[in-house]
Amino acid sequence: MCGIVGYIGTQKASPILINGLMRLEYRGYDSAGISTIEKTGISIMKDKGRVKNLYNLDGINNLEGTIGIAHTRWATHGKPSKENSHPHTDNSKTFSVVHNGIIENYNELRKFLSDNGYKFYSQTDTEVIPNLVHYYYTKDSNNDDLKFLRAVKNACNDLKGSFAIEIICKDYPDNMIVVRKDSPLVIGKGENENYISSDIPAILSFTRNFYLLNDFEFVVLSRNDAKFYDKNLKPIHKETQTIEWNTASAEKDGYDDYMLKEIYEQPNAIRETIGAKFSENSKCEFDELNFTKDFLSKFNKIYIIACGTAMHAGLAGKNAIEKLCKINTEVDIASEFRYRDPLVDDKSLCIFISQSGETADTIAALKLCKEKGAKTIAISNVIGSSITREADYSIYTHAGPEIAVASTKAYTSQVVLLVILAIYFAEILGLNSSELSSLKKEILELPKKIEKTLELSSDIKDFSKKVYQEKDIFFLGRGIDETVAKEGSLKLKEISYIHSESYAAGELKHGPIALIENGVTVVSIMTDPKLVEKTISNIQEVVTRGAKTLVITNQNIDTSMFDFVIHIPETSPFVSPILSIIPLQLFSYYISKEKGLDVDKPRNLAKSVTVE
Ligand code: M6R
Repeated sequence: MCGIVGYIGTQKASPILINGLMRLEYRGYDSAGISTIEKTGISIMKDKGRVKNLYNLDGINNLEGTIGIAHTRWATHGKPSKENSHPHTDNSKTFSVVHNGIIENYNELRKFLSDNGYKFYSQTDTEVIPNLVHYYYTKDSNNDDLKFLRAVKNACNDLKGSFAIEIICKDYPDNMIVVRKDSPLVIGKGENENYISSDIPAILSFTRNFYLLNDFEFVVLSRNDAKFYDKNLKPIHKETQTIEWNTASAEKDGYDDYMLKEIYEQPNAIRETIGAKFSENSKCEFDELNFTKDFLSKFNKIYIIACGTAMHAGLAGKNAIEKLCKINTEVDIASEFRYRDPLVDDKSLCIFISQSGETADTIAALKLCKEKGAKTIAISNVIGSSITREADYSIYTHAGPEIAVASTKAYTSQVVLLVILAIYFAEILGLNSSELSSLKKEILELPKKIEKTLELSSDIKDFSKKVYQEKDIFFLGRGIDETVAKEGSLKLKEISYIHSESYAAGELKHGPIALIENGVTVVSIMTDPKLVEKTISNIQEVVTRGAKTLVITNQNIDTSMFDFVIHIPETSPFVSPILSIIPLQLFSYYISKEKGLDVDKPRNLAKSVTVE
C-alpha cells in the first residue's frame, strides 16, 4: 500500500528519490520521508502529508548523499503523523529502514526488543525492523563484509506478515539491502547506479532494465553491482528484464489527470490486449496456455477471483464462459473467498484478475487454490508482478501503466481478455463455432466503437454538471448491464464521494424502490436486446416516483420519458460493458472535477492494496 523508492549511484540521491515518490503517491499519501547517508552519518527527513511537504522541508536541498531510501505512506499501524512516517531508525541510529506491508507479530517483537532495552518512538509495526536488525548486528562478532546482510536476514526470519524493505547502514555507506515477501519491489539497473521502487513506472524515466525479485530474495546493492542471495544467503544469479513501456505512457501527456488520459487510452489498450490472439477467420491462440481439449475437459468448475473493479470484470468473464463454454463459473471477492473454505479441488480452474498483480487478498486466494490442487491462471497488467509469479499460467492485459487510483482502461482490457479467453476455451471444446466468429468480428471493431463512444464526452459533462451536488445516485441494469451498474457505482463513489448503490433492475421492487423520491438520480444501462423491455418497465417505475434518469443504451427505444439519454454504438452483449462503462467513467470523472476533488488520488484509497 505504501510506496518505496531507493537510489545508489553517483548522483545526489534526494532529487531522484523525491521524483520517484511523486510518481508513487497513488500508493499512499498521508506522509513521506527520505533517508540518505551523508558525510555526518544517516540523515532522515520526513513529514506528515503529501510529498510536496517533504520537498519543501528546510535543508532538503542540502543533502549530498548518493545513497538513499524513501517512502510514501498509507497508514496501517499508527495514525498519519511525523513520528509514524518512514524512514524509521534503530535506537543507535545505525540503520534506516523503509517498509511496505504489515508485520503481523510486531507486538511480540516489540516486547522482545523492549525486554532487551530497546525503546520505541512511533506506533508503527515498522519500527521493530531497524531495532531487530541492530539486535542481530550487535550479537554478531564476525566483522566481515556480510555482517550487515546476516543481520537483515536474521531479522527477516523473525518477521511474520508481508514486507518490502530497503535498509541502509552507516557502517556500510556503499551498500543498500533490499528484500521482499508478499509485497512488491523491483530493481532498476543503470550505469554505475541502481534504482529501487515498488513499481516500474516510478523509475521508468531512469532505466528500462529491471531485476524482478521473488519472496525472500535478499539483494546487496552497490553503485555498480547487485548481488542476489536466497533465504539461506546462498548467492543466486539473476538477469535483467527489459520493459518496453515508454516513459510518456507513464506521464499525463497533456491531460489534466491520469484518469482522463487513461479513459482516452482505451481504444489502444483494447487493441493491444487483443493483439494477435486471433483474426476474424483464425482460431484464438494463447501461447502462454496451450491448453488441449483433454486438459480443459477435466475441469467441472471455474472460479474467477479478484477485488473491486477487477472482480466486476470477472462478472463479464463469467457471463462469457458460462454461455460460450457451458462450464459452471463462480465469481468471488478474494477477501471473502480466502476465508470461506471454498470447495476448490483438482477439478477446478481458478482465474485471478489483478491489474497491479500485487493485491494481497487475491494473491492469498491464489495460494489457497494451489494448495487445494486447482490449476491457476493469473490475469495481470504488470509483467512479472507477484500474482504472475505464483500462478501456474499467466496472461496479460496490455493496457500500459495505470496510474489513477480509479481503474478504467485496466477494467475494459480485462473484460476483453476474459471474453477472448472464453472464445479460446469454447474453440478447444468445439462449441458454438458460428456464434464465435461473429463475436470475434465484434471484438475487432471495439477500438473504433470506443473512439465513437468517447466523442460523447461533452454530453456526459453537461449531465454531470446538473447532478454533481446530489447526495445519492442509483445505478440499475439487468444481466450484463447489472455488472456495469456495479462498476459505474463503484467508480462514482470512489472519486466523487457521492453515496451510490447499484441494483439488478428487477430487484428494485423488493426493497430499494423505497429510496426513490422526487429528484433522485437514477442511471440505467440498457444494452441487452433480450432484457431491454424489462429494464424500461423498471425505469418507468422510478420515473413515476419523480426520479431524474440518465439512460445509457445502444438500442432503438422510445426515450421520451427519460431526462437524459446517451446512445452508444451497438455491439454484442458479451463485450457491451467495454462500451457502456465509458460514459459512466466520464460521468464520475466530470462530477469529481466539478466538485474540485483530486480525481487521481481519492481520499483513503491506494492504487495497489498490498495489505489485507
Ligand atoms: O490491482 P488490482 O486489480 O488487484 O486492484 C483491485 C482493486 O483494488 C481495484 O480494482 C480497485 O477497486 C480500484 N480502485 C477500482 O477503481
